[in-house]
Amino acid sequence: EHNGGHLSTRLKGLDDALCGGIPFGVLTELVGPAGIGKTQFCLKLALLASLPEAYGGLDGRVIYIDVESKFSSRRMIEIGSKSFPEIFHKKGMAQEMAGRILVMRPTSLSEFTESLQQLKISLLQNQVKLLIIDSMAALVAGEQGQGAPRQHLLGWHISFIKSLAEFSRIPIVVTNQVRSQIRDEACQYSFQVQHREKALHEHTEYDSHLVAALGIHWAHAVTIRLVLDSKSGKRFIKLAKSPISPPLAFAFNITSSGISL
Ligand code: GTP
Repeated sequence: EHNGGHLSTRLKGLDDALCGGIPFGVLTELVGPAGIGKTQFCLKLALLASLPEAYGGLDGRVIYIDVESKFSSRRMIEIGSKSFPEIFHKKGMAQEMAGRILVMRPTSLSEFTESLQQLKISLLQNQVKLLIIDSMAALVAGEQGQGAPRQHLLGWHISFIKSLAEFSRIPIVVTNQVRSQIRDEACQYSFQVQHREKALHEHTEYDSHLVAALGIHWAHAVTIRLVLDSKSGKRFIKLAKSPISPPLAFAFNITSSGISL
């Protein structure tokens, strides 16, 4: 379905389930409640995309749409120097990596809309290997209208972003906030999915939240959906939608070196 190629997340189980990582040419969504680690995940992906190929990176630039001013190059460099000390101890490397991230901070959906055409050109001209939108929900939160009018407005954006992924053949990662949904039962099922029907039911539940926020068009436009959640103080990342993998969940931690399994 996508154009080949993956951005490895360095989370072994997740990379295996995704046949190598976040696929090029399609939309990948990170969904979860506030504070679960979506931005931390994005910082790690930004770092990985900008790393030299010799270290498994994409040796490219990253465009980071930072809607809520959560991007931190200092934190990204911390993650880098803890995860790849052999690269980051080289003089000037931290600055070079940070310089590869182009951070944009649109203050409204219309400002974002205006920048989309320029974005399309930049993606092709500037060796951009990853586009991150953190977060889509925040971008539309301030907009007027509910239900059908808003979903109509968003429909155009969704199609445009999806086409950006297809024609530039890079991974596009979009975050969205939803409230915590995994109940005890559901969590167990995500670990031992013997009852496929039940698992599918849980998917539908997540989808219905997203549908409320961004519309059914959005839910369908996304090829990979990763749901981050926590239970009893433990964080989980769940591969909730994928054309190639059944639903799987992995426990993860956030440490000074970023997200790790
Ligand atoms: P919203 O944007 O509010 O929806 O949240 P989010 O899902 O983007 O959460 P974010 O990625 O900001 O993660 C916040 C969590 O990451 C915090 O609860 C911390 O546990 C962890 N975290 C953030 N910064 C650091 C850091 O510098 N060091 C460590 N060890 N953990 C951090």
